[in-house]
Amino acid sequence: MLYDVPVHLGDRSYNIHIGAEILGQLGGLCATAGLKGKCLVITDENVAEHYLQTALESLDQVGLKASAVTLPAGEQTKCGDQVFALYSKCIEAGLDRHSFVVALGGGVIGDLAGYVAATFLRGIPFVQVPTSLLSMVDSSVGGKTGINLPEGKNLVGAFYQPQLVLADLKTLETLPEREYRAGLAEVVKYGIIYDAPFFQLLEDNIDELQTLDNDELLAKVVGRCCEVKADVVSKDEREGGLRAILNFGHTAGHALENVAGYGEYVHGEAVSIGSIFAARASIEFSGLSQPECDRIEQIFQDLKLPVNAPGYNWSNLRVALSVDKKTVGGMPKFVLVSEIGKSSIGNEIPEERMETLWNEL
Ligand code: NAD
Ligand code: GLY
Repeated sequence: MLYDVPVHLGDRSYNIHIGAEILGQLGGLCATAGLKGKCLVITDENVAEHYLQTALESLDQVGLKASAVTLPAGEQTKCGDQVFALYSKCIEAGLDRHSFVVALGGGVIGDLAGYVAATFLRGIPFVQVPTSLLSMVDSSVGGKTGINLPEGKNLVGAFYQPQLVLADLKTLETLPEREYRAGLAEVVKYGIIYDAPFFQLLEDNIDELQTLDNDELLAKVVGRCCEVKADVVSKDEREGGLRAILNFGHTAGHALENVAGYGEYVHGEAVSIGSIFAARASIEFSGLSQPECDRIEQIFQDLKLPVNAPGYNWSNLRVALSVDKKTVGGMPKFVLVSEIGKSSIGNEIPEERMETLWNEL
C-alpha cells in the first residue's frame, strides 16, 4: 500500500510516500527522485535497533553507497556540538555536493539531520524517513530544520525542503505508547484549525485511532494531516502569515514545556493542554460556540491526553509566554478558532483574561 501526497513548491516540490511496510522501498524511491552516489544515514539508537539495517540494505540494493551514524536518543542531541560532529562524519563518509543525507528517526533526528544537510557544503539534498507519529504528520513535512541553543529551543535553523519523505506506518509499532498518544494531539490540531470533516472522522474512530490495527485508517489519517500541512506550506512556506495556524495550542503549550522543564510533559501533551486553553479563549475572543469547544475538550480527553496542568501557576507561565518567538511587544499572540475547521492568527487576549482562563483550566 502506498499513498502519495505531493508538496507543491515549484522547483522544490516533492512527494510524501505513506504506507505500511515500505521502508524497503527507500532505495528505489531515492533513485527515482534522482538521488545518486553516496549518502549518510543519520539515526538514533532506539530507531537504529529496529530499522537501520533495512534502510541500509534498501539503499545498497540500488547501488547507493550508504554509511550510517547512530546518535543518542533525545532532545539534547539536537545541538550545535552534534552538528559539528556530523560535518566531520559527512567528510569521513566522503560526501560531496552530489551526495545526500537520510534522516531516519523522529523529529529530533529530522530537524538535526535536515540542518546539517542545509548547511554542509552550503546545502546537499536530504530525505526524511520519519518514524514517530509527530514526525510523520508534522516535523518531516514543510522544511523547517534546526537545533536548540542552551538559551532555548529551535533558535538556529533553516527552511530547507527534503527531496522526498517516506513514512512507513509499521515503524509506529515500536514507538513508545506515550509518544504515539502525544503525536495524536498534533493530528487533532489539523482538524481543529483546517478541516471539520477530518475532526469528525477522528471522533468517529476514536478507539481504533488508539490502536495500530487498522492500516487503512492510519494511512488516511496520516495522509490527511500531510495534505493539510502541504497545502498550508505551499501557500506560506516561510511563515509570513497563514503557516502560523499550525501553532494552535502551541503558545500556552510551549510556555508550559518551558516552565515544567522539558521532559515532564512531552510536546504533544503540552499542546493538548494549550489547545484547551486556546479553545476556551476562542469562545470569548473568536466566537467559538460552547458545544464546539466541548467537542474539542472531549476529543483530547478521549485520547487520554492531559487537559490541565495542576501545580503550574500563572505568574511563571506568563514569564515564559513573554519569551515565546511569536510574542510581539510583550503580548503573546494566539491562534484561535471561530468554529472547528476555521482558524485565525495573531489574536491577543487581555492580561486578566489570560490569567483567569489559565486558572480555570
Ligand atoms: P524524538 O525524535 O525525540 O522521538 C521520540 C522518541 O521516540 C525518541 O526516544 C526516539 O528515539 C523514539 N522513536 C522514534 N521513532 C521510534 C520508533 N519507530 N520506534 C521506537 N522508538 C522511536 O521526538 P519527536 O516527538 O519525534 O519530535 C520532537 C522534535 O520535533 C522536537 O525537537 C521538536 O522541536 C521537533 N519538531 C519540529 C517540527 C518542524 O516543523 N521541523 C515540528 C514539530 C516538532
Ligand atoms: N510545526 C509548525 C510548522 O511547521 O510550521
